Amino acid sequence: MKKVDVILGLQWGDEGKGKVVDVLTPRYEVVARFQGGPNAGHTLEFGGEKYVLRSIPSGIFQGGKTNVIGNGVVLDAILFREEAEALAASGHDLTRQLVISKKAHLILPTHRMLDAAYEAAKGSSKIGTTGKGIGPTYTDKVSRNGMRVGDLLNPDFRAIYAKAKARHEQILRSLNYSYDITELEKQWFEAVEYLKRFRIVDSEYFVNGCLADGKSILAEGAQGTLLDVDFGSYPFVTSSNTVCAGVCTGLGVAPNRIGEVYGIFKAYCTRVGSGPFPTELFDETGERLCQLGHEFGAVTGRRRRCGWLDLVALKYAIMIDGVTQLIMMKSDVMNDFETIRVATAYEIGGERTTEFPYEITDDVKPVYTEFEGWKCDLRECRRYEDFPEAFRRYVEFIERETGVPVKIISVGPDRGETIER
Ligand code: GDP
Ligand code: IMO
Ligand code: MG
Repeated sequence: MKKVDVILGLQWGDEGKGKVVDVLTPRYEVVARFQGGPNAGHTLEFGGEKYVLRSIPSGIFQGGKTNVIGNGVVLDAILFREEAEALAASGHDLTRQLVISKKAHLILPTHRMLDAAYEAAKGSSKIGTTGKGIGPTYTDKVSRNGMRVGDLLNPDFRAIYAKAKARHEQILRSLNYSYDITELEKQWFEAVEYLKRFRIVDSEYFVNGCLADGKSILAEGAQGTLLDVDFGSYPFVTSSNTVCAGVCTGLGVAPNRIGEVYGIFKAYCTRVGSGPFPTELFDETGERLCQLGHEFGAVTGRRRRCGWLDLVALKYAIMIDGVTQLIMMKSDVMNDFETIRVATAYEIGGERTTEFPYEITDDVKPVYTEFEGWKCDLRECRRYEDFPEAFRRYVEFIERETGVPVKIISVGPDRGETIER
């Protein structure tokens, strides 16, 4: 029986998962999303075109592959329709390539309102969510009040919806949140009809059937390990398990079916929204990373906070995910930097630690190791041997510290700007 290989973000999301899934897809027959929803924005570039995917797996551009939206995903029918129609308009009809789990939960229009209302109620301690209704939808799932894609086939669908909506409206009233969802609701009902043209399946049987037939599967993570609801910088996290274990619950595959775990990280760090970020830079260097890396959110357009690579956090993510191969992205952004820093420990109240702490306050001070910059254009390089020595020193230091090989290095957004070792 084949195994499921996994691609996971090891930081706070936006590591470049979409690009790498697209690059690796030719080696697989199936690509499957297992968690998250349209809070994700996965960017792919090839042939001079750029695409941003939110709910649809990043395997759809490699032709003839099956793409699965697993049970662990939360699906907004309106945004899904927008995404699928835009792809169809550019010549990518997905109806035959995509299967959707009956057990994936539906994001209702009122979930988006609840997301906004809860954020408003939190005031200055808001999470800075993407506003896509992710938290409220997962909350309904866990509190056993959710609606699933399979409910679309239920003759009582409208009644189930009305009950959920009434419950949400009660909460919205108690939060004094005013809203008007008339138009959104209309769009939503049209969009759920549109969803029915796709194959809606028992995805756990589908996925395990593929494995039994000897088909290889790549699981595509959304967000990143430091946004995991259990292991991330809680409460400044998303509402799903973004870690490797999420593949088992989000697709219905057993732990012994997990194969390679590819962990993706940027050569520096970024974060969108609120929450701790020990190596964040508030100076000109942070601004340079933002501008040169085009660090603005693919979904919300928000500026991403930028900072140095954090090996304490990276090693924590590698431990939890069982990463077997590392993939390093966006090193080209630092092409002109004189010096580059990497955090190897934290100092907290005079004590040094290499563990990611329960709570990250302003007292957590990163301890840095400094590297000489490579000061050359990495985008010109096509083989590992072409890289300047200063850059190879950086890569090999990360490998030594983490104990995991860096197998793929990305030096630009395009599919082709990818070096394998
Ligand atoms: P994802 O959410 O993990 O798929 O990542 P995003 O798509 O949100 O953000 C990554 C951004 O970096 C996108 O704009 C990519 O086109 C871009 N990108 C990916 N790899 C590289 C790289 O190696 N170098 C540069 N300069 N940009 C990259
Ligand atoms: P991809 O898949 C970066 C962040 C939000 C916020 C927190 C909770 O593109 O890497 P949510 O809307 O999920 O309730 O927001 O998580 N966040 C992301 N940050 N990349 C993402 O996805 C993200 N998805 C959510 O900014 O801080
Ligand atoms: Mg993204």
